[in-house]
Amino acid sequence: MPLSFVSKLKNASQAYTFRDFILLPGRSEVEPRDIDLSSNLTKHIKLSLPFVSSPMDTVTEWRMAAELARIGAVGVIHRNMTIESQVEQVKKAKAVKMEAKSVDEKGRPLVGASVSPLDTKRCEAIDKVADFLVADVAHFHNSNLLKVAAKLLPNLSKDFIAGNIGTRRAVRDILAELPRVDGFRVGIGSGSVCITSEVTRVGAPTLFAVSEVATAVNELNSDVPIIADGGIRGAGDASLALAAGASTVMLGSMLAGAEESPTKVVVKDGRKMKIHRGMASAAARSVRFALDRYSVPAKGLEEGVEAYVNYTGKAADTISNIENGLKASFGYSGAKSVSDLWSVASFGYVSPQGTTELGVHSLTLK
Ligand code: XMP
Repeated sequence: MPLSFVSKLKNASQAYTFRDFILLPGRSEVEPRDIDLSSNLTKHIKLSLPFVSSPMDTVTEWRMAAELARIGAVGVIHRNMTIESQVEQVKKAKAVKMEAKSVDEKGRPLVGASVSPLDTKRCEAIDKVADFLVADVAHFHNSNLLKVAAKLLPNLSKDFIAGNIGTRRAVRDILAELPRVDGFRVGIGSGSVCITSEVTRVGAPTLFAVSEVATAVNELNSDVPIIADGGIRGAGDASLALAAGASTVMLGSMLAGAEESPTKVVVKDGRKMKIHRGMASAAARSVRFALDRYSVPAKGLEEGVEAYVNYTGKAADTISNIENGLKASFGYSGAKSVSDLWSVASFGYVSPQGTTELGVHSLTLK
């Protein structure tokens, strides 16, 4: 029994979110054209742009993955389908003939795929075709999962990204108990279609989670790169996530409305839209294959919603907007690269009342 429940409340961590912070302007000598956004996705894979599409069935299949590889980012094929279909999707993306900026050793588009470590057959099949594997588990810091992953990893040849996690303790346990890990996927409960924190009142908001995980990685003298996953609504959130220690950011809702996402355009109230849904929403769960993403004891629990997002046209245009916004952000901060931003960035805390002042205010929009 803990000695004091009162002290648990008094000494609570501040689980900060993107809306709570801004980056403070720093002395700058950099022009947007001098800024290099290249960054490590995993220990062995470097991208020219720090963007990764989320393995969700409304975001990433072969078209999205191929398009992102073309422009220097990367896509992760979702797993809400049979093993055979997922292997096929990876192969299709890799077979696209084009000039791509993210490429494998044979010059083909670089493509990742998501797996559950509990699904050994899928992991082994995906390991043969994809360039890297991304664990797609809501709570990777789980003794059973760690045991299974420890046994599985020696049989895999590709880089393995563990996640999702959100605490220092998770980093310590994973680094101690797994034979290797090549990336961390970080953030629990911040996703646009996610209701985990609402339903369970448990979560590690992405900005807070990234800072925790990055701190533990540094403390352990490790160099495992971090993907900030969930809740990124634009270049500003992306720059906060990178400044807090992430190497890349994962985008779900920002790409769900793109031409290249797997869903069809629908017209609603005269506007073009696409469907986006949480992988733990009732609709996604009814497809059955990603059932184990969400807590096994709570199989009946919905932890995601299904919604509409605006149709946003070409994914390359969305990425180019975020890229330009990020470069402006780096410029204000005085950073030439992601690792430079880790050193020079300083954060300003915004009070809940202050948030309105930082947006459009005191006028009526036309
Ligand atoms: P954004 O905000 O970019 O977030 O759309 C994408 C991330 O959200 C997570 N995800 C979920 N989280 N319930 C959750 O709690 C869900 O149903 C769900 N589906 C996706 C996931 O980490 C994804 O990359």
